[in-house]
Amino acid sequence: MKRLLKGGRVVDPAAGIDGQLDVLIDDDRIAAVGRGLPVDGAVVVELRPDFVVCPGLIDMHVHLREPGQEHKETIATGTAAAVAGGFTAVACMPNTDPINDNANVTAYIVSKAREAGQARVYPIGAVSRGSRGELLADIAELRQAGCVALSDDGRPVATALLMRRALEYAAMFGMPVIDHCEDPSLKGDGVAHEGFQASTLGLRGIPGAAEAIMVERDVQLAELTGAAFHVAHMSARSSLRAVAKGKDAGIRVTCEVAPHHFTLTDEALAAPVPYDTNVKMNPPLRESVDRDAMVAGLADGTVDAIATDHAPHHYDEKQVEFDNAPFGITGLETAVSLTFDRLVHGGVITLRRMIELLSVNPARILSVPGGTLAVGAPADVTILAPDLRVRVAAAAMRSRSKNTPFDGWELRGGVAATIVGGRMLFANEAAGLAAATA
Ligand code: DOR
Repeated sequence: MKRLLKGGRVVDPAAGIDGQLDVLIDDDRIAAVGRGLPVDGAVVVELRPDFVVCPGLIDMHVHLREPGQEHKETIATGTAAAVAGGFTAVACMPNTDPINDNANVTAYIVSKAREAGQARVYPIGAVSRGSRGELLADIAELRQAGCVALSDDGRPVATALLMRRALEYAAMFGMPVIDHCEDPSLKGDGVAHEGFQASTLGLRGIPGAAEAIMVERDVQLAELTGAAFHVAHMSARSSLRAVAKGKDAGIRVTCEVAPHHFTLTDEALAAPVPYDTNVKMNPPLRESVDRDAMVAGLADGTVDAIATDHAPHHYDEKQVEFDNAPFGITGLETAVSLTFDRLVHGGVITLRRMIELLSVNPARILSVPGGTLAVGAPADVTILAPDLRVRVAAAAMRSRSKNTPFDGWELRGGVAATIVGGRMLFANEAAGLAAATA
């Protein structure tokens, strides 16, 4: 089947394209990009001229919870949330139950993702067996089964020696090691950013240094090994400094920032709803200087990717005292609107940079297909509606969990449609794209 995306603004940073062009999809591949392409038997999708046709967005940090915690999310519901959020692919963290530290679990995830037939799923394997920080997992086996990176996310890679070995082995298979950087002794049993807000609310604090110290350690180890290290969900200004220094020295370090860390600060702990467990995540929301540093890093290129850290938790699990609630919020269905509203319309980044952060760079960091609309590339395409007025509605989300602090927020910019392997899996009626075009 052929599909012609007609009349939109095509932005493909990898190919240096930005213009009013058509995109022809033939079956599961990009067949042509050009001005006034002939219809030639294709199904035509007429787009408004301000709609942006770009390479499919890739969220390189999500928790799909399957196997083992299907009451929070399944691969089917998580990948449905992904396409509704504009993501054609996601990379899922290994902190499932059991942990994805062997080929059986990886194969299970891959087969469930295929069955779901929504966004593509790239599993991330555990660095250590059971993510316990003792013995390395069988990295060759994980790679062979389909893992694209290694991480003990949810926990840091426990020791410098283990991180060194993980980097050495991962490099042999061309994979990055993604670290949840957090010094356990400094984190202690903290639940919120260490600062004025936590003090006045009586919450135990987690200083920014808990993160930055491990970023520094891992940058050193990336230099020692020559391997690729990626910082997960970066939140502290001192971590950004460590990354910038490493990059300047030519060390292979990359990093991601989550939308909540460029949007919110720890003031959200106090208002509008004090002790709202939907603003409890790890790393925590930090001070405005940290938030502003993340924004600056996104603008100046120090930050490589926007990743959601989509962390679904069941309503009942979050309906407890702040101290006892699990860390994490959902993110797949709000990321694009927050990025548009806060960063693009906020005058911080260009549209082109937005697409680099959400597609080109994640594809490059993980060495997965995508990140381009080049002829012959997989037909993974996101159509963005930059001026769409979006009212976030947690209850209407496709994710099985609704733990978002953004419920009710009015944002400018959203997703018009999501195409994975040539199949239009999401078409937003609010953007005027009827299901008929799917
Ligand atoms: O907030 C978080 N939630 N941070 C993590 O590192 C883990 C995640 C989860 O799995 O819920």
